[in-house]
Amino acid sequence: MKDYLIKDISLSSIGKKKIEWAEAQMPVLLMIRERFSKEKPFKNLRISLCLHVTKETAVLARTLREGGATVYMCAANPLSTQDDVAAALVEDGVHVYAWRGMDLRSYYQAIGYVISFLPNITIDDGADVISTIHKFYYKIDSEDTRIIREAVKEISIEDLLKNILGGCEETTTGVIRIKSLEKEGKLLYPIIAVNEALSKSLFDNPVGTGQSTLDGIMRATNILLAGRDVVVVGFGRVGSGIAYRARGMGARVTIVEVDPIKALRAAMDGFNVESMKKAAGHGEVFITATGNINVIRREHFELMRDGVILANAGHFDVEISKKDLEELSIRREKTSEHITTYILKDGRRLHLLADGRVVNLACGEGHPSAVMDLSFSLQALSAEYIVKNYDKMTKTVIPVPEELDKIVAIMKLRSMGLEIEEMTEEQKRYSESWLMGT
Ligand code: NAD
Ligand code: ADE
Repeated sequence: MKDYLIKDISLSSIGKKKIEWAEAQMPVLLMIRERFSKEKPFKNLRISLCLHVTKETAVLARTLREGGATVYMCAANPLSTQDDVAAALVEDGVHVYAWRGMDLRSYYQAIGYVISFLPNITIDDGADVISTIHKFYYKIDSEDTRIIREAVKEISIEDLLKNILGGCEETTTGVIRIKSLEKEGKLLYPIIAVNEALSKSLFDNPVGTGQSTLDGIMRATNILLAGRDVVVVGFGRVGSGIAYRARGMGARVTIVEVDPIKALRAAMDGFNVESMKKAAGHGEVFITATGNINVIRREHFELMRDGVILANAGHFDVEISKKDLEELSIRREKTSEHITTYILKDGRRLHLLADGRVVNLACGEGHPSAVMDLSFSLQALSAEYIVKNYDKMTKTVIPVPEELDKIVAIMKLRSMGLEIEEMTEEQKRYSESWLMGT
């Protein structure tokens, strides 16, 4: 098998500069790297990364390598790879199997190549490597597993499982998938749910995706958000971040939710809350962030105005039904690199960004490095935690230990030059006593 498969190795010098730019914004991960370079926690270990191949992911890959790991990398999405970064990583000695715009066959093959190296730790964004390993074990036959099996034909599932110490999962959709395996009693190795750590989900999901989703939409369309009628579907961690930022830029924002508590929170935060059907009739820009399937579909497209923009920030490209768009349209055209325009039978035009894939990574560069500093520092420390504790870990979904979550927040605050208050001994006693107030 080839050592790597990327678009163009000659792009490496541009990629190297981009990685250095990211490093300057990721001081916490660099501090962890410095320690790893002395302690070598991953000596003789192989780590697979199924992540978006960005300059920030490159900083993580370099950190794991500095800690002694051999790193194998495939993409978490066919449209999110930054080819120059992939080239620079290959020059650094990372085995990358990814390029921007890879077709689904190549995407699945790349997962197979990475698995073939028998990783000791798997790090995923969306659980594609994790779920592939489980599909092999439970003999689930589908188009993707057939392609992947071809790519990994020389290894057995027993070999694979013997080598894996544990895994880490980066995003909400991936955590839902591993929890579903756990619930069915099928999880084959321990996996740390990095997404659920507070220093991840309070920052990456709302702040990172909030900014980068709007950035992706603006890069693709250059629309003015001020005064625009924007509908955000899903008011969870990601959707709320998008909604607040869109409002901050002057958009009139409507929220569509299925959860009564979240819908109420949106209403009390001053957002307009409506059903998808009602919002479909007036919205100008629709942004999905639910992790769910077909949240915008035929019955909604039928009500939409001419010229609306459709974008998705959720992990998979299933939130906006492309099948229904195809069936309703008489033709579609590529309006620009990131815009596909569906022309409906009555002449209305609906503009879909990035084929309904993660708009922030496909049309932009993903989250800013400063926020990925938190997420990827947690990934690095969680991987180290697996190496130190795998013999005590059960085959369950494991939370990031609270002390690691706090360490990352403390290091980030320090890197920002911020100090926090410390409780006095009296306050500590008082705040824990049932006699308080007397
Ligand atoms: P979350 O669970 O916090 O929020 C999802 C929200 O969607 C919930 O409030 C839920 O009630 C709502 N919802 C579900 N079905 C709905 C429907 N049919 N209509 C309206 N609302 C519905 O999850 P999250 O952390 O916000 O993540 C959302 C998605 O974004 C996931 O797929 C996650 O993996 C992805 N994500 C993407 C990025 C990125 O960079 N693009 C970053 C982080 C997370
Ligand atoms: N997910 C969202 N933004 C990202 C980024 N910049 N790098 C890697 N994964 C991401």
